Amino acid sequence: MIATLKMNDGYSIPQLGMGAYLLPDGDECYNSIRSGLDLGLRLIDTAAAYQNERTVGRAIRESGVDRGEVFLTTKLWVQDYGYENALKSIDGALQRLDIGYIDLLLLHRPAGDNIGAYKALEEAQRQGRVRSIGICNHTRPQLEKLLAATDVVPAINQMECHPLQQQKGLRPFLEEKGILMESWFPLGHGSKRLKFNETLTAIAEKAGKSVSQVILRWHIQEGFIIFPKSTNPDHMKENMGIFDFTLSEEDMNAIRALDAGRYLGGDPESPENFKKWESLTFEL
Ligand SMILES: NC(=O)c1ccc[n+]([C@@H]2O[C@H](COP(=O)([O-])OP(=O)(O)OC[C@H]3O[C@@H](n4cnc5c(N)ncnc54)[C@H](OP(=O)(O)O)[C@@H]3O)[C@@H](O)[C@H]2O)c1
Repeated sequence: MIATLKMNDGYSIPQLGMGAYLLPDGDECYNSIRSGLDLGLRLIDTAAAYQNERTVGRAIRESGVDRGEVFLTTKLWVQDYGYENALKSIDGALQRLDIGYIDLLLLHRPAGDNIGAYKALEEAQRQGRVRSIGICNHTRPQLEKLLAATDVVPAINQMECHPLQQQKGLRPFLEEKGILMESWFPLGHGSKRLKFNETLTAIAEKAGKSVSQVILRWHIQEGFIIFPKSTNPDHMKENMGIFDFTLSEEDMNAIRALDAGRYLGGDPESPENFKKWESLTFEL
């Protein structure tokens, strides 16, 4: 049974789902989403920038799973920021997905006019086209700026997080503000540094679980929301087998000690990365 968490707006979110990053639009994406839904996963994380919202929406519509049971997250890309642009791009996302409403809409990066874009998210939430709203990749200073200029406290901040990057500096601030954290790259994007890590391997052996299951269980016990990406139904099943065991406090502390503050997917405060995100555009 997959656990759920309550967000600060009253809606619940499954703590485990599936990610849709690098799922090329078409059969690969369609089959992965259908497999996940068939297996019982209900949280799907996509983004305008993944360029597969149409296929994700079609897989949900054709799955036979009630719309109310599915929790769909998508994200606006920086090219669509600014208040008016973002309002238009929310219409675009709703059309591409074609599933009535969006459960959770996030800003993908804290670049460009993210404040104007967040105000459009607030408006879409008032109109009921989007249930919950939030952000990704906002470090504490970026989040403080956003909170000072807007009305609705984000329900979620989605950050790179795994045993090598545990977001220890940011997490107390999120807790204080009632913002839940979603971990992207929960398995370190398949990093060998995690797969063959001695501490993780020893804990996995002791628990009779795989290293992936131990890492995912660590996220769950820390209170994070996760959506590992997999195109392999056996991996999806394995990733769902994390609610029938508990890591001891000693094991949790051993994993906490692996934190190296290391970003595998790009430093969210680097000026070079900001330039890159602001110049990147996608055909939607
Ligand atoms: N907001 C953002 O800026 C942002 C950025 C990046 C990602 N994300 C979100 O986070 C999601 C997850 O990140 P990610 O997909 O890049 O990385 P990830 O979930 O950490 O790792 C995915 C990799 O792990 C492998 N894998 C999954 N389960 C496994 C298992 N049980 N055993 C062995 N290998 C396994 C997958 O291969 P197989 O397919 O072979 O299983 C894939 O290569 C994305 O899909 C996306 O939705 C958000």
